[in-house]
Amino acid sequence: MRREISFSQLVDELGSLLAPSLAEDWPNMPIERAKGSYVYDVEGKAYLDFVSGMASCNLGHCHPRVEEAARKQMEKLVHGPSGVFAYESMVRLAYELAEVMPGDIDCFFFSNSGAEAVEGALKLARYVTGRPAIIAFYGGFHGRTMGCVSLTTSKSAYRKNYHPLVDGIYHVPFPYCYRCPYGHTRAACGLECLEAVERVFAHLVPAEDVAAILLEPIQGEGGYVVPPEEFLRGLRGICDRHGILLIFDEVQTGFGRTGKMFAAHTFGVVPDIMAIAKGIANGFPLSATAAPRDLMKKWLAGSHGTTFGGNPVSCAAALAVLEAFREEKILKGVGHLSEICFAELEAMKDEFPVIGDVRGRGLMIGIEFVGPDGAPNPGACQDVLDAALAKGLLMYPCGNKGQVIRFIPPLTVSEAELRRGLDILRRSIEEVRR
Ligand SMILES: Cc1ncc(COP(=O)(O)O)c(C=O)c1O
Repeated sequence: MRREISFSQLVDELGSLLAPSLAEDWPNMPIERAKGSYVYDVEGKAYLDFVSGMASCNLGHCHPRVEEAARKQMEKLVHGPSGVFAYESMVRLAYELAEVMPGDIDCFFFSNSGAEAVEGALKLARYVTGRPAIIAFYGGFHGRTMGCVSLTTSKSAYRKNYHPLVDGIYHVPFPYCYRCPYGHTRAACGLECLEAVERVFAHLVPAEDVAAILLEPIQGEGGYVVPPEEFLRGLRGICDRHGILLIFDEVQTGFGRTGKMFAAHTFGVVPDIMAIAKGIANGFPLSATAAPRDLMKKWLAGSHGTTFGGNPVSCAAALAVLEAFREEKILKGVGHLSEICFAELEAMKDEFPVIGDVRGRGLMIGIEFVGPDGAPNPGACQDVLDAALAKGLLMYPCGNKGQVIRFIPPLTVSEAELRRGLDILRRSIEEVRR
């Protein structure tokens, strides 16, 4: 007989109902609802959410414009599938997205998740170039499908027991300047990470066999690592010289996170292919592989497809997201909010030796915790996260050892909410380091 069971009883059984790969994540906080910058637990306690649905709800939870658009769409059409039907929300979204993409990127393959968008980029690059090899970077995170896991090196745990992975992917060091892979100082950098790419051509795979160089313009899961602009420009140059496609995985950096619509705008470097997701529909599942029409037209009928990708409701939500960016001038406020964060966080860094580095762009900010010897300090990072959560602020770790707090409030956060979050963070560090 079917047993009646309450939500709190279900939560007690979480560990047996959900796979441990999910159930043992942190903090797995039972929540009931969310609005704007806040999530509310089952007792009604409010938490400032500076995880923003893992950088998906850039406009805050349940943004009224997005909710309304999704609700209206649900009354008309919930599922296509695309390909069998052409429905307005998807076609119009492609038309409107083209206006905000960098360079001449104006053609889209819609899918559901970030991983699918990256997978699509990988397939597109191989398909149109006819070349087998891909160059990716240490510390990159690109998702959980076999193709994406093969690109991902932010933690070896993500790859463990999945070998053999997709063949033909070569990893090189990423310019994690705070912990330079070559031990250089910033002044004497010499961009050896760029030379490493050339060394791959010389020793491992000739440039003419390389389809694409694929990277996050700012590494997310790998520790919120910001490369020098010259590095990204240098990669663009290498790709141009050898007919290699440059792919930006902007799944996390996209939709205003770095202060401009995409990190490509922030850095002034235009890729050939982009993977976009997360903030695209403010929490509705949607993603896209994007490229200029001239390139995309070589991806012939039948070579890629989807059942659920470009869901009508998600596309309607994404159209409302773009409208919000336009009408509510979302990007206008990000610079000011970012300055407040950096001023406060830099001051905390000067005050607390446990903070080794503060870095980022816009409202995509990483705070790296270190021990007295400068080594990564995941223990201090987790203690601060726990203390902050107890005080009503949710943040989430990243970095190879979990030593970095990702500080990603919604772009719509009010100045008062932001200052409250920063104050909780300060008090949490004080408490932990007492
Ligand atoms: C840069 C980047 N790429 C890809 C992904 C995978 O996205 P999803 O979890 O939606 O498959 C993520 C997820 O965090 C990401 O941050």
